[in-house]
Amino acid sequence: MTRFLLLLLLGFFVVGSGSRAEASDPIVIRFSHVVSEQAPKGVGALRFKELAEARLPGRVQVEVYPSSRKFTDEEVVPALLFGDVELAAPSMVILRGYAPALQVYELPFLFKDVAHIRRFQAGPTGQMLLNSMLPRGIRGLGYWDGGMRVLSANKPLHSPADASGLMFRTESSQIFQRAYDRIGVVTLPLPFRLLADAIRDGLVDGQENSWPNIYTRGIHKLHRYYTPLHHTFLGYMVIANDDFWTRLPADVRPVLEEILAEVTREVNELARQEAETLAQKAASEAEIEVLPLNENELAEWRSAFTPVWREFEPVIGADVIEAAVAAEGAAR
Ligand code: SIN
Repeated sequence: MTRFLLLLLLGFFVVGSGSRAEASDPIVIRFSHVVSEQAPKGVGALRFKELAEARLPGRVQVEVYPSSRKFTDEEVVPALLFGDVELAAPSMVILRGYAPALQVYELPFLFKDVAHIRRFQAGPTGQMLLNSMLPRGIRGLGYWDGGMRVLSANKPLHSPADASGLMFRTESSQIFQRAYDRIGVVTLPLPFRLLADAIRDGLVDGQENSWPNIYTRGIHKLHRYYTPLHHTFLGYMVIANDDFWTRLPADVRPVLEEILAEVTREVNELARQEAETLAQKAASEAEIEVLPLNENELAEWRSAFTPVWREFEPVIGADVIEAAVAAEGAAR
């Protein structure tokens, strides 16, 4: 009996001291992304770390893994679901398997500019999309901007005919693939970390991306010609494993959410500034030519690409597309 009581007491102390140690350990938040630390998303991840550790000292520790050091975009969502990473901010292109309606962000020439996208994201359909992966265990915490996509290639591209017969690296989007199919461009959906090598090795002739990604990956030193087509928008969603997020202590979660809202404003402002300045900075460092399009050329790209809207309407939903179109003229 004495021996039994002793064991019981020992067990109590072991379990008790174990749980005390766990409670005092900081909560580790691993944030994985694929871009450079200097791109707006990379700056945002580091800023989140800085603010979270300053406002929740000893409670939270944020580990940031940039440049696909931990996971590529293709790997990060399964990793998040398996608890191998807590936060990510992938391009929304890779989320289509979890919420097909998110492909609305891939429709060419749907969004006129970043202000149009921002209005849509702030409205009811944009917010519904942010929550649309909850049944799959993924919580959308905010939208971060990358910027409008421009084309870059090893030859000048004024019209779709100029691109015919080329091979382009794109993100892994069925919509992009179908749009480029229509103009005779073959697409190769490589992970972002392989993009520069694919250009250097002559595997691809062209690609499309935001100015921050072009500049921070040194694409401006590899491709000479840039077409500011602005046909699609590179947008990110900050996502967390819903189970992890909802189980955060009540004094931690609201602070992190407030920080994320603050960092979201900073990232989006930085992306806006860099969309304007990085083309010039790239031109000061490398022999590049930016080829503005005239109305006729733009109309040719539009009529080549926009028929894919109809093709993808059944998976995205006509109501979602209509809400996105309507956001163009919504109150500013
Ligand atoms: C990213 O900006 O996160 C990736 C973009 C790309 O794969 O082109």
